Amino acid sequence: MTNHLVDIAIEVLKAQGHEVLQSDLYAMGWKAVFDGEDFPERANRERLSLIEESGYAFANGCQTPDVEEEQRKIQAADAVILLFPLWWFSMPAIMKGWVDRVWAYGLAYGYQGAGNAYRYGDGGFAGKRALLAVSVGGPAEDYSPRGINGPLEQLLFPITHGTLFFPGMQVLPTFAVYGTVRIEGNRMTEVDAAWRGRVERLFDDAPIPFRPQNGGDYPDRHVLADHVAPTRTGLMVHVVEAPRPSVAEECGVPVPR
Ligand SMILES: Cc1cc2nc3c(=O)[nH]c(=O)nc-3n(C[C@H](O)[C@H](O)[C@H](O)COP(=O)(O)O)c2cc1C
Repeated sequence: MTNHLVDIAIEVLKAQGHEVLQSDLYAMGWKAVFDGEDFPERANRERLSLIEESGYAFANGCQTPDVEEEQRKIQAADAVILLFPLWWFSMPAIMKGWVDRVWAYGLAYGYQGAGNAYRYGDGGFAGKRALLAVSVGGPAEDYSPRGINGPLEQLLFPITHGTLFFPGMQVLPTFAVYGTVRIEGNRMTEVDAAWRGRVERLFDDAPIPFRPQNGGDYPDRHVLADHVAPTRTGLMVHVVEAPRPSVAEECGVPVPR
């Protein structure tokens, strides 16, 4: 399923005149494990701090070539699409390892060496769009608002909010294909059409309205101000709620604007 979605995305984007840079991690034999081998020129040979070494290597141009190449692709991109099968409610380890290694200190976090000054809406990847396309084995009802697995958009919050919005990307609502273990009838045709539509609208669809760190909702950059969504806690409090429809709108009565 995942490769099928990749093929459609490439076809649609090229037809729209976009240049597509692809990273097929398995085909590339991507090194998934972030470790000391990532840093042949060490800032500190006594003690291995991956954050310190990442910052040093990024700032001094001594990252490994595979990481540099992936950063070049991201920096050239207007939009980044991560396509993956859902494995244990997250991305496969090889993709997690891609993030761990490519999201360097000074670029994706600690941007400009300024600690957490630029994050959640600001940062090295600001101005880019991001989209997750996920192939999900289980049925949609397991991921419905009261479904046993929990809603997919909440399960993927560490990726949408923590990995993509953190360094500044605007993240679109996730595209998911459920029940991929068995696809019957004409469902594949419906999936193709829905995915084509989402790719065609990559630069038009509204992103998830995550609250930016520096937009005023987090006065100390850590915690929401008391007056913001005062009765709510949990992950979704970091998404601006859609304004409640008026009674008239709820009843389906057209409201003049
Ligand atoms: C290691 C592993 C973990 C999986 N974990 C989940 C899961 O957490 N939730 C789920 O609904 N399906 C899970 N599945 C099923 C996959 O999502 C399903 O096989 C995949 O969507 C098929 O896509 P593909 O054809 O691109 O491999 C898992 C499959 C594997 C191999």
